[in-house]
Amino acid sequence: MTINPVTTHQMAEPIFDIAELSSFELFSPCVDETVWFFRDLLGMIETGRSGDSVFLRGWQEAYRHSLKITYRERPGMGFAGWRAMSPAALERRVKSIKDSGLARGWVEGEQGIGPSFEFTLPDGAVQRIHWEVEYYQPERDDRSVVLNRVQRRPLRGVPISGLDHLNILSRNVSDNRRFFAEHLGFKLSEHILLSDHTEAGAWLRAMTRSHDIALVKDGAGQGGRLHHVAFLYGNSQHLADICDVMTDQGLELEAGPALHGVSQAQFVYVFEPGGNRIELVGTPGYIITDPSWAPVNWVQDHLDSAIIWYGAPLPTEFDTYGTPHDGPTRYRTPNRYIAAEAALLLAGTDGLSGINEHAVSR
Ligand SMILES: [Fe+2]
Repeated sequence: MTINPVTTHQMAEPIFDIAELSSFELFSPCVDETVWFFRDLLGMIETGRSGDSVFLRGWQEAYRHSLKITYRERPGMGFAGWRAMSPAALERRVKSIKDSGLARGWVEGEQGIGPSFEFTLPDGAVQRIHWEVEYYQPERDDRSVVLNRVQRRPLRGVPISGLDHLNILSRNVSDNRRFFAEHLGFKLSEHILLSDHTEAGAWLRAMTRSHDIALVKDGAGQGGRLHHVAFLYGNSQHLADICDVMTDQGLELEAGPALHGVSQAQFVYVFEPGGNRIELVGTPGYIITDPSWAPVNWVQDHLDSAIIWYGAPLPTEFDTYGTPHDGPTRYRTPNRYIAAEAALLLAGTDGLSGINEHAVSR
């Protein structure tokens, strides 16, 4: 009989007090355009408006909302909301968070989410934890004959099923990772260790999906910023369809579709009109049901495979661009052919003469 000796030796009694990432607030300087992206392209359902905020949910999500889009001059993250497993679990986590010194206190419930306890990560990103929820009740015409569906599949855009995970740019990955482990009971699934032993990335899970939150080193040295928030398709064809739609609508796909080594998820990264990076997940990552799972350590020669299993490499800005961002709120990776043509034009040469004579111009 073989039991992972390292994990067993280090294992404290596990905590399963957090069920899932249940809500997320996204700041946008152009709320109408950001709502267009999530509602008309990603098929989310708008369920409420209040003040400067719009509330939406994915069609397979049970609660009244999972996404809150709020007007701010700069893009970024308002908070990530986690649902506790029970009222007693919430009480236990609140006590632990208070002991950490990073508690902010209770905030009122809104739009179907009950009172929430607010706190920050060591790097400053705001988090909330709650128990009470209100379940979404579809209109009669939207009810599905498939009784385990919350509603019929929407006939708009390419509908995502719901929220999946988030990724926070961290000044100190290890500090944030320890906070999630000690005060919220998250388990480490995989991490990236550099040759000087600094932790450059950590992927943690509340329950069994490969990760609910990722913490990656902020290449700009700031920390506490949103790298991306991710939404799930669960199907490669749907990811291909939305890439077609988004490209047709002039949106910038930053990277993918491709496959990550870490988590094995199929992804595409896109900037929503407000400037936030959004990840859309095709086939999801693996699940972990092994209670003595030993975290995967990605080191040195394997690092490239950790980030990209197959597909084009990520642009360098992937490590430094997060929201809020000092400077332009988006960037475009130069296309080498466009760049070459521009250089020829600057030099006074028509580099395409004689080549494109029969090409059709649009
Ligand atoms: Fe991600």
